[in-house]
Amino acid sequence: MKTRAAVLRGVGQPFEITEVELDEPKTGEVLIRFVAAGLCHSDEHLRHGDIVPRFPIVGGHEGAGIIEKVGPGVTRLQPGDHVVCSFLPVCGHCRWCSTGRSNLCDQGATILDGVLPDGTYRFHHDGDDLGGMCMLGTFSERAVISENSAVKVDDDLPLDKVVLIGCGVPTGWGSAVHAAATEPGDTIAIYGIGGIGINTVQGAALAGARNVVAIDPLPNKREAAEQLGATHSCETAEQAQELIQELTRGVGADKAIITVGVVDAEVVSSAVNVIRKGGTVVITGLADPTKTNIELNSAMLTLFEKTVKGSLFGSGDPFNDIPRMIELYQSGDLKLDELITSTYTLDQVNEGYQDLVDGKNIRGVIIYDTPPLEGAPA
Ligand SMILES: NC(=O)c1ccc[n+]([C@@H]2O[C@H](COP(=O)([O-])OP(=O)(O)OC[C@H]3O[C@@H](n4cnc5c(N)ncnc54)[C@H](O)[C@@H]3O)[C@@H](O)[C@H]2O)c1
Ligand SMILES: [Zn+2]
Ligand SMILES: [Zn+2]
Repeated sequence: MKTRAAVLRGVGQPFEITEVELDEPKTGEVLIRFVAAGLCHSDEHLRHGDIVPRFPIVGGHEGAGIIEKVGPGVTRLQPGDHVVCSFLPVCGHCRWCSTGRSNLCDQGATILDGVLPDGTYRFHHDGDDLGGMCMLGTFSERAVISENSAVKVDDDLPLDKVVLIGCGVPTGWGSAVHAAATEPGDTIAIYGIGGIGINTVQGAALAGARNVVAIDPLPNKREAAEQLGATHSCETAEQAQELIQELTRGVGADKAIITVGVVDAEVVSSAVNVIRKGGTVVITGLADPTKTNIELNSAMLTLFEKTVKGSLFGSGDPFNDIPRMIELYQSGDLKLDELITSTYTLDQVNEGYQDLVDGKNIRGVIIYDTPPLEGAPA
């Protein structure tokens, strides 16, 4: 079958909206019709060249949609099911899955090739195999994905809102709740308020932090943070350092979480300086994985017992966290509707990324109006 998709062919090139060939689902796979796809900075890394995937690749790793067909051996899903995609697959059996760390599932090793677990591709164009970003490719009307990447949700949920729970929400929320282990009364510094950082703000506030300090040079980001749980906001790291010293009587922040678009040495140094003795810095934002990009004073870590750690998917388990976040949305404790600044069609994906680069969006979302396949449930 054919599907329209936004394809990246090389570094620095825009998304090309083109018709590609899509295979039928094989063993353990499902055909999904996407209803919505979020514009996360991680796809911008591929376009910009901060992170280089295998090209060509269909972009998009935040997605929600409806299952139209299932391949042989699929038992957990059936046509008509509504799902939120996890940007990391969960096999359930590898060492990491079986020890409650399924965000580190071994099947996630190929998310930048976009190849499915059996080592083959379902998107093709002009004789080329195309991967799907994070084994998904949500910037496509339809895709064939592993059932390990799809979390079933109730049919009455708004997929155009819960789509954010495929990446931005669990990553941001979990960075505060799981990775930083925010405790009641904590002072938390959060650097960078995009689709990830805004959810770190929500997670820190929900976990009971006394001071949630949001740092972003852009006024629209600081305003959004204050509306969604930040007690304070600062334009620069220097201002945050000064404020946090005042707020904590010179002790420092308990935890600092880095959710900027591109992580650099400067922001990591600021975060390490802002935390107290025994405090933790969580690095959630990404940078070029092939380069050394930070340098730290080791004595500061030794003498003050500071911890610097990374966090992937908010250090949570997708099949546990996605349903939990949906419940928090339903109870009104977690805001999603308020996070969506602009919506786009698939054809406007480059415009959406320009808005992300220009700092206009908390989160942009592509909305599809693809009719269901003949005979498939609506
Ligand atoms: N670890 C994971 O599992 C994971 C998952 C998804 C995304 N990410 C990464 O998280 C990062 C954030 O993604 P996003 O979609 O929220 O990006 P975004 O572009 O929407 O937001 C980034 C924000 O950071 C701000 N910023 C930039 N430099 C800053 C600085 N030095 N100090 C303070 N603020 C600064 C920008 O103004 C912007 O508001 C990206 O690197 C993305 O690839 C990581
Ligand atoms: Zn993402
Ligand atoms: Zn696994």
